[in-house]
Amino acid sequence: MDGLIGWLGGAYPWVKAAHLIFVIFWMAGMFMLPRFLVYHMAAAPGSAEEALWIERERRLLRIIIDPAMAIVWILGLALAFNIGFAGQGWLHAKLAIVFLFSGYHGWLAGLTKKFARGERPLAERTLRIANEVPSLVTIAVVILAVVKPF
Ligand code: HEM
Repeated sequence: MDGLIGWLGGAYPWVKAAHLIFVIFWMAGMFMLPRFLVYHMAAAPGSAEEALWIERERRLLRIIIDPAMAIVWILGLALAFNIGFAGQGWLHAKLAIVFLFSGYHGWLAGLTKKFARGERPLAERTLRIANEVPSLVTIAVVILAVVKPF
């Protein structure tokens, strides 16, 4: 694994810039999706309004969130192998948070499918709390990546 240290050479800042561009796309989508689900929840199952939310959620996931998340992971891991994992506590913490956040994304994607079938398997209050997750993750991950406190 150490053999990859420095493998990006002069491309490193370009890869980092691309990483941040797709981080913004991914996070923008992740701020929108649980908000869409709050509106979707208020629409009656089977109604014309609900059909619009089903389509909006599907397109947001397929066109923005899923591709952006895949590219963020690929570029982030490319950067991580370039700098190496040893002694980088901030990177380990960041990876743990981003891994859980990817699971949160999967949970939301699963919810959109259940909602589309007319199921409402959670309270609106839970969804409103879930809306805060992307903000908290952004704060934690940016501080870890920029300040590198440990
Ligand atoms: C998906 C997995 C991810 C991996 C493996 C990853 C890994 C990395 C690595 C290794 C760096 C280089 C740090 C440096 O050059 O000092 C970096 C930079 C950065 N990442 Fe990520 N990252 C991921 C996702 C994210 C997410 C979701 C966010 C924001 C919500 C984010 C925000 C940043 C920021 C702000 C920087 C710039 C740090 C700096 O140069 O000061 N990353 N990332």
